[in-house]
Amino acid sequence: MAEAEPLRPIELQPQPKTVQELAAIDGKEVPERYIHKADNNGGGALDAPFPVLDVPTVDLQLLASSSSGGEELEKLRSALSSCGCIQAINHGITSAFLDTLQEVARQFFALPSEEKKKYSREIGSIEGYGNDMILSEHQILDWTDRLYLILSPEDKRMLKFWPENPESFRRILHEYSMKLPAILEVLLKAMARSLNLEENQFLRQYGDRATMQARFNFYPICPRPDLVLGVKPHADGSAITLLLQDKEVKGLQVLKDDQWFNVPIVPQALLINVGDQLEIMTNGIFKSPVHRVLTNSEKERITLAVFCLPHPDQEIQPVEELINETNPRLYKKVKDYVSLFFQYYQQGRKPIEAALL
Ligand code: OGA
Ligand code: NI
Repeated sequence: MAEAEPLRPIELQPQPKTVQELAAIDGKEVPERYIHKADNNGGGALDAPFPVLDVPTVDLQLLASSSSGGEELEKLRSALSSCGCIQAINHGITSAFLDTLQEVARQFFALPSEEKKKYSREIGSIEGYGNDMILSEHQILDWTDRLYLILSPEDKRMLKFWPENPESFRRILHEYSMKLPAILEVLLKAMARSLNLEENQFLRQYGDRATMQARFNFYPICPRPDLVLGVKPHADGSAITLLLQDKEVKGLQVLKDDQWFNVPIVPQALLINVGDQLEIMTNGIFKSPVHRVLTNSEKERITLAVFCLPHPDQEIQPVEELINETNPRLYKKVKDYVSLFFQYYQQGRKPIEAALL
């Protein structure tokens, strides 16, 4: 196949209304652009009963201690090699703090549209408040509004998109962002140890110029959960994603063995999932799970995803020690995976295939 032209995502004219504004219009009608026909949602009804995914709960404090971590390391390795995610507990962030974080997010999305639109993102750029980025004519839109903010490095933050209402929003989000690097380091080191690698193998590729990007996802009540998705199936382009789920409303699903599973809520846990870049570094041993979000006809749902991304100049490739005769190298060396990700995504292809040898 010929090399694809390097192209940046080109956003088409966005929907004039946010999903929250659409949802406020009475009635059972959902605009055509949000509807998944039975044959293009990956098969199967959206309102079918789904089995619950067994997502192992992993204690980060045990992972961090080199002496007592054996069993926990094995749990981590086996979870990330099968469903690609864990429920992380004992992560050092108090439940009171997580409640506050969820509360300021809830208060922000409860503001009048005019107030939220002070933080609107501009066309073609992801940062700020807005709805699904429209990249193709045929794209089926996600039933979600988002607030997207770069957390780190701090000098890359665009404060004009950081809400000043509620008044504590910036301070709380900043505080959260300060707690995450330590968690990420424990995870990346433990992941390496669980595969019998020197503990800095993944950290080194992750690099010290990495970025963290926060995405607040707001899923308004949807009159047609049988036809509409909160987020369409995708895998994350990150190395790792840390997701703070809504405490009460579920909706996230993971595809495993060609079947959709509901991800349970574990209060106060952070759901950690492998992203494509870590799948590449592990030569496919850890799985970047395909996931999607269902909608709900009774309750709103709010989540906070933080994507941990190596610097675009940083080269990512499978760790040598994980390649051998029985496990031949699957992925090539890649840089700026996020751009590759968008190109493939825009063409309706699975982005990680861009990195296959
Ligand atoms: C995402 C995502 C899941 C959720 O933001 O990439 O998959 O439950 N979110 O909101
Ligand atoms: Ni995701």
